[in-house]
Amino acid sequence: MAHAQGPEGPSLQDAGGDDTAHGHDDTTRARTLTRTILDEVARSFVGHSEIPELVLTALIARGHCLLEGVPGVAKTTLVKAVAGSIHGSFKRIQFTPDLVPSDITGTYVPSRDGTFTLRQGPIFAHVVLGDEINRAPARTQSALLEAMQESQVTIDGETHVLAEPFFVLATQNPIEQEGTYPLPESQIDRFLLRVVVPYPSADDELKILRTYSTRAPEIRPVATLAEVLWLQNAAEGLYVDDEVYAYAVALAGYTRAHPHVALGASPRASLGLVLAARAAALIEGRGYVLPDDVRRVAPYVLTHRLMLTASAEAEGISPDSILHEALSRVPIRRADARTDGVGHGVAARVAG
Ligand SMILES: Nc1ncnc2c1ncn2[C@@H]1O[C@H](COP(=O)(O)OP(=O)(O)OP(=O)(O)O)[C@@H](O)[C@H]1O
Ligand SMILES: [Mg+2]
Repeated sequence: MAHAQGPEGPSLQDAGGDDTAHGHDDTTRARTLTRTILDEVARSFVGHSEIPELVLTALIARGHCLLEGVPGVAKTTLVKAVAGSIHGSFKRIQFTPDLVPSDITGTYVPSRDGTFTLRQGPIFAHVVLGDEINRAPARTQSALLEAMQESQVTIDGETHVLAEPFFVLATQNPIEQEGTYPLPESQIDRFLLRVVVPYPSADDELKILRTYSTRAPEIRPVATLAEVLWLQNAAEGLYVDDEVYAYAVALAGYTRAHPHVALGASPRASLGLVLAARAAALIEGRGYVLPDDVRRVAPYVLTHRLMLTASAEAEGISPDSILHEALSRVPIRRADARTDGVGHGVAARVAG
């Protein structure tokens, strides 16, 4: 396996030897490594640099990522670039109405000697793209989503542990077409982040035309699997102040208490806020997590999990506007401040 050769320094050998990012060297190494990956991805996916960064955030947080966008905005291109930038296996599952769960997990097939051997499905890869996930029926969707949750699959009663790292990226078209199966709330919750891929700016679109009207750039693997695992461990080793935890709880609580919200953010969601904030801090090369990291990831962690009341939906209120409101109203309290009356009363420091 080749090792990453960052622009700023020697190759990042021995990744995995040390598994936290407490020291200055570790945060520098994390920053270099994540920049190297993002630079490689940017050779293929043009513009909106925050989008590849969010995908990498999900990978480092050991989460999974849902990409939403209209056809032709480079969702598949982006996933291929991310998968191509790291060593390891990559499988793509095109979701179609006739896809069955065993097309994802695999099946036992009889061999000549009368025994059965497992023919592994595409889920047995480091990076799995579930393309157009809403085009397969619920039963097939849940085969993927269960695997994401458990990091293992059961085939004919036998349990198989999946690869490590194991990273699922699913794409879905936001416009409900005929014959599509929207993911139910209980399933969409399995995605740590949902990222909406918008249209490129005119300048970026020009760059896309120049880049792709000749030949698509070839993405090279610039990080080993050991380096990816090291980044995951490093994010877990970052310092998180009580203030950060309290802020995540307060944001989730605000959505739950909101009159327009029928189903607010669960503890899985507030935990997701902290996990994603850790990864976001690491990508920045910081050894500790700030409430601001939580603020940056919150729209991507929370909006897909909020279910609004029917009357709020009828009024055209969106989860985005609820989240925006939460971010502007929920105070960031110092660790030693009282934490009752979340979202109300006098704040030690008001986020804005
Ligand atoms: N931001 C971008 N950067 C690079 N290429 C882009 C970008 N936007 C669009 N393209 C180009 O547009 C084409 C379509 O991209 P792609 O197939 O990845 O889109 P998609 O979002 O997966 O579409 P679909 O929903 O139909 O599957 C590709 O040739 C891709 O290179
Ligand atoms: Mg596609």
